[in-house]
Amino acid sequence: MILKSSIDKVIEIARIDEVVADYVSLKKRGSNLMGLCPFHNEKSPSFTVSPAKGFYKCFGCGKAGDSIRFVMDYEHVSYPDAIRQLAKKYQIELEETTVTDTEKLAETARENMFTVTAFAQKFYHQYLLDSEAGKAVAQTYFAERGFTDATIKKFQLGFAPEGWQQFTQEALQQQYSLPYLISTGLTIEKEGKHYDRFRDRVIFPIHNVTGRTIGFGARYLKPQTNAPKYLNSPESDIYNKSKVLYGIHHAKKSIIQNDNCYLCEGYTDVISLSQAGIENVVASSGTSLTVDQIKLISRFTKNITVLYDGDAAGIKASMRGIDLILQEGLNVRVVLFPDGDDPDSFAKRVTTETLQTYLNAEAKDFMLFKTSLLLAENNNDPIGKAKLIRNIVETIAIIPDAIIRSTYTKQCATLMDMAEAILIQEVNSIRRKTVTSQPAVELEIPIEEIIKPETTIQRNRYFEEEEAIRLLLNYAYHILQIATETETVSITVKDFMIAELEQDGIKFENEIFAQIFANLYIEESKLLSHFLSHTDEAVRNAVAAIVTEKYQLSPNWDSMGVYIPPKDFDLSGNVMRSVYLIKKYGIEQMMHEKDNQLKDASPELIESILEEKMLLQQMYMLINKYLGIVITG
Ligand code: CTP
Ligand code: MN
Repeated sequence: MILKSSIDKVIEIARIDEVVADYVSLKKRGSNLMGLCPFHNEKSPSFTVSPAKGFYKCFGCGKAGDSIRFVMDYEHVSYPDAIRQLAKKYQIELEETTVTDTEKLAETARENMFTVTAFAQKFYHQYLLDSEAGKAVAQTYFAERGFTDATIKKFQLGFAPEGWQQFTQEALQQQYSLPYLISTGLTIEKEGKHYDRFRDRVIFPIHNVTGRTIGFGARYLKPQTNAPKYLNSPESDIYNKSKVLYGIHHAKKSIIQNDNCYLCEGYTDVISLSQAGIENVVASSGTSLTVDQIKLISRFTKNITVLYDGDAAGIKASMRGIDLILQEGLNVRVVLFPDGDDPDSFAKRVTTETLQTYLNAEAKDFMLFKTSLLLAENNNDPIGKAKLIRNIVETIAIIPDAIIRSTYTKQCATLMDMAEAILIQEVNSIRRKTVTSQPAVELEIPIEEIIKPETTIQRNRYFEEEEAIRLLLNYAYHILQIATETETVSITVKDFMIAELEQDGIKFENEIFAQIFANLYIEESKLLSHFLSHTDEAVRNAVAAIVTEKYQLSPNWDSMGVYIPPKDFDLSGNVMRSVYLIKKYGIEQMMHEKDNQLKDASPELIESILEEKMLLQQMYMLINKYLGIVITG
């Protein structure tokens, strides 16, 4: 803990106008100072600093506070960290209590690693600027890539010498200690000898959010066999790949002002966009996007625009990124660059103006991104559409906020021309299965749109019919091998189901399902498109919903404790179970009817009804035996 007396000293010395002036350019206006607010985007200044009163206030966005609050809000740091930063600025020695010896040691070790890394950054940068090789090779390379001198300086780019020990020797000579050279990965120890990790590569220093160098990315200049294009610092106590975003230090101010962060993949993407005047840009560089990286961005904005390549790998990466960002409760938009371009190459090809226009015009929210992408792939193909809906619904289900979820569900229903209720049901069902960590806020289905089975038997029957239809829609023409006592018969799924149900006089109870079942004569290649372009909207929607659902266990099954391994899907087993369950529920219902008849039956009828019921009971037992379910009681 920092002692109160130390804190008071910082508050006393850190003048508001001096502190703010480090970040905002201020002009005198009477006894006050004015500038452009760093906390929101504005063209004319409404940010006022009063040195006399020791505070700032923005008349645009309302933010106000003292020196410490300013540093906290601007740097997004805690109170003690703001005090520490200000103490450093004014070279005030802070007195702290209760720091244990191990804490002190660890902190010292980290500080030493920072020191060594800072030295390396300067060394590589100087080597780029001053050495013959730096001038002849690396500077030429950067020039060819279109990086200006100002850019090279801003990003502190560097060059590592070709030899094996030049950096390490220089560092040791300047009294930097070997253990820290090794723990930062700059020097590699092998059989008692010490080598430079980075040789003959251009250097991209990586900074943490406060701007200290914590590691490096190093790119070869000419493709080398067996060498990776980029070599990076290893993970260490100061460099954790999954928590770092390249460029965050430069970008944070602009991210706050624009209330948006552009996220791309590579070092060069960040540098080129920044050079083109787009400052609110960072890269996940070297790792696929992580939750920690998203959390880091969310300290500055809740809006991320993903900028990925238009190639297959880029699209795949952005799909994954979208889900992760939504899951963290942030808003995500996506800009795809023309195939063959990454943000870097695109920014080079076009003017800053065109780039800005492109970014604004092409930024699509995830729903539009997914639909346009997938619709472009399969023109009006109903199966493609079904897959697409499934894909979108799965993504909607990830969003933690129920209101946002419901907005997207509505949008999807309109866009895909589907009943909203079906989508809502789907979203809820996915959330029930996958989202356990969050409170179960489910969307409400407009009552009039639900088909509401009344009793448990009816409900079971309904779900089982749905299951049968799902199997039929997906596998109608697949061939089953059914073993009877004497031989093995080959039969299609649909023929098997039709025969089995007809044999016991069982029909689909649900009208829509019955309609689908009656239409199974349609040939295989046209089956789905027939239903998906059906004149009856209810049929269209039901089929779309069913084929977009991943295979799932019907709710009855797990409650009965029957285990179906979900991975290796057993088609004939599932078809048989489905058929027998429909029969089972059909018979259950008939038995129920018999019970009702018994209630007000005349004495002479009772016996025949009981007989019929007995028959049903025998069938029921038989079916349950088939199903492998032991009925007790
Ligand atoms: N990367 C890495 N190791 C590799 C390849 C890539 O760490 N072997 C990381 C780098 O951070 C790189 C990013 O992934 O910036 C994107 O890779 P890529 O698109 O190949 O690199 P660019 O940034 O486009 O670099 P360049 O334009 O110089 O080829
Ligand atoms: Mn590139």
